[in-house]
Amino acid sequence: MKEIRERAYAKLNISLDVLGTRPDGYHEMRMVMLGVSLYDNVTVTLTDGAVRSASNLCFLPEDDKNVACKAARAFFAVTGMENVGAEIKLHKIIPVCAGMGGGSSDAAAVLRALNKLTGAGLSLTQLEEIGAKVGSDVPFCVRLGTQLATGRGEIMERLPEFPDCSVVICKPDFSISTPELFSKIDGNGLKVRPDTAGICAALEQGDLQGITRRMYNVFEDVLPKKYDKIFELKNRLLDLGAMNSVMSGTGSALFGVFDNDDMAEKAKSALRGECRSCFTAKPVRYIED
Ligand code: C5P
Repeated sequence: MKEIRERAYAKLNISLDVLGTRPDGYHEMRMVMLGVSLYDNVTVTLTDGAVRSASNLCFLPEDDKNVACKAARAFFAVTGMENVGAEIKLHKIIPVCAGMGGGSSDAAAVLRALNKLTGAGLSLTQLEEIGAKVGSDVPFCVRLGTQLATGRGEIMERLPEFPDCSVVICKPDFSISTPELFSKIDGNGLKVRPDTAGICAALEQGDLQGITRRMYNVFEDVLPKKYDKIFELKNRLLDLGAMNSVMSGTGSALFGVFDNDDMAEKAKSALRGECRSCFTAKPVRYIED
């Protein structure tokens, strides 16, 4: 049986702003998002059975509770394909529950793989539309690169490629509940917001300094004290030479941006003792149609 392997790259939030609540219960977002070279391997095979997944992590669901399976079902529904199933193998490297879009990127990789395997010939824009039904971050993960996400996070606008740099990503041992953090934002009028327009202008100029000094995630302002380790690691990244450091999504992963690859590798080695899950990565390019 023919199978296709896709890389599911991680996403990081260069900025994250929450503009308000919506009638559908979601939040109105404005985020500059970046795909980076840390990836899960996603292998998809067409079958005549059910949609199933398996992974190297025993605690991940293997049925429709897994967004990768949801994505396959949504693909078959939209393309009107019946009596067809998929076997999805996930080799997870991206930390789970980290704010790095790991599950969303697996789902997007399944959509790209099924489009090739079935010869459905959908455009990546159509895959983004299917992805939006599966999860708010899935449309970004269809193309990656650098994009501005608005709406509930599913409306994408391409931005210039991110300047060359290295990122050091740290995922502390604890995870943070996404709905819990959103509820804290609701009860707390935000006073400081990221300069999203400034980041977009700096991207136009290829100005890494201009981008990094504006990195900002409003969720950091409402983090309960029990998650102070995030600020400790942020200060460590800055001490080790990061141009700036910020939490990604609703955490608990954070990252620092370095303009020097050696310095980034050294920072990762230095942090390994303090944080078991520590990686270096580079920006990845936007996937064109
Ligand atoms: O869309 P997704 O299933 O990834 O969202 C997970 C949860 O995050 C939602 O159930 C909601 O609590 C919260 N969320 C939100 N506003 C958004 C995106 C996510 O409130 N724009």
